[in-house]
Amino acid sequence: MSTKPINITMKAIILSGGKGTRLRPLTYTGAKQLVPVANKPILWYGIESIVAAGITEIGIIISPETGGEVQSKTGNGDRFGAKITYIRQDEPLGLAHAVKVAQPFLGDAPFVMYLGDNLVQSELDLFIDKFKSKHLDALTLLCEVENPSAFGVARVDETGKVLQLIEKPQNPPSNLALVGVYLFSPAIHQAIANIQPSPRGELEITDAIQYLIDQQQSVASFRLQGWWLDTGKKDDLLAANQIILDTCLESTHEGTIDEASKISGRVHVGQGSQITNSMIRGPVTIGKNCKIQNCFIGPYSSIADDTTLIDIDIEHSVILKGATLEGISARIVDSLIGERAHLKVAPQRPKALRFMIGDDSQIELT
Ligand code: TTP
Repeated sequence: MSTKPINITMKAIILSGGKGTRLRPLTYTGAKQLVPVANKPILWYGIESIVAAGITEIGIIISPETGGEVQSKTGNGDRFGAKITYIRQDEPLGLAHAVKVAQPFLGDAPFVMYLGDNLVQSELDLFIDKFKSKHLDALTLLCEVENPSAFGVARVDETGKVLQLIEKPQNPPSNLALVGVYLFSPAIHQAIANIQPSPRGELEITDAIQYLIDQQQSVASFRLQGWWLDTGKKDDLLAANQIILDTCLESTHEGTIDEASKISGRVHVGQGSQITNSMIRGPVTIGKNCKIQNCFIGPYSSIADDTTLIDIDIEHSVILKGATLEGISARIVDSLIGERAHLKVAPQRPKALRFMIGDDSQIELT
């Protein structure tokens, strides 16, 4: 039986639960989907992209640990022009498990499934048009990658029809990785009901799609031309920050910048921020109520609200809300610094180092 009610309004789910082990220690205290890229939570880019494609009924999958924070920061959807329903997944038992817990919300609607820690440079419309016009049961988005073994990989024929999906293969059949955006007809629910947890104990969405393929249901792919970033790890997050600052940042100076300071390139300075005797070379975004004194802030830095930087030289880094950095003479590069972190070095060469560092922190004094 084919179940393709294409006239039913499409919905979307965004997966914002999970463990986030690769972004520890930040994810001990917060949701990785709320880590900011260019001072905006990663999750919000996904919501905006879904709303831009005309889908306004969005379910967000949350975990018991971080769901409250996701919900309170993101709200009921009014700010995005959407209606957001929060769906609790008690344990991170896999992407297909998340779809299972979302089934009462999804009903018989076809839907977009978007991984809340992914950023995709592409309008979803083209993707949705293909799904609807070809009456598909699943449409996967694929992107060429250099290290396919780290991803779910697809084998496709010359028409883009998906023949096989393999999760993190040792011998990848292609270099086409599954991007974290999928489209499904309600047929996926039956597929999920027929699969078993994988050796890592998760209900895998790749297994559910493979079930559809094995049942001769229509599964196609769409080759992504733009960039795609999975921000689950620090370096990917910094790469995402760089791309977003390069492509989306507008130069606006809402704070105060004294005459001794020099700003070049695209730089956003938020309300209430004070820049004193500093050089800022964009693209750089600085949030609200920051104090920046005697600093060099180089390209691809995002500095969140309420941050204090004194005598700091930094570039290509992301600093989260309320952090304080003071007196570090060496340049800070490629760094991700958590909320309210405090780093201070004595003006002369320090004679002693005093630390209180959270579990899984990484510090390199090179
Ligand atoms: P992953 O990044 O694959 O998983 P994870 O969040 O557990 O991360 P890590 O590997 O670092 O431990 O998940 C992709 C997205 O899907 C991410 O936004 C978390 C979300 N997710 C859920 O909502 N429920 C789940 O059961 C899983 C596995 C992931």
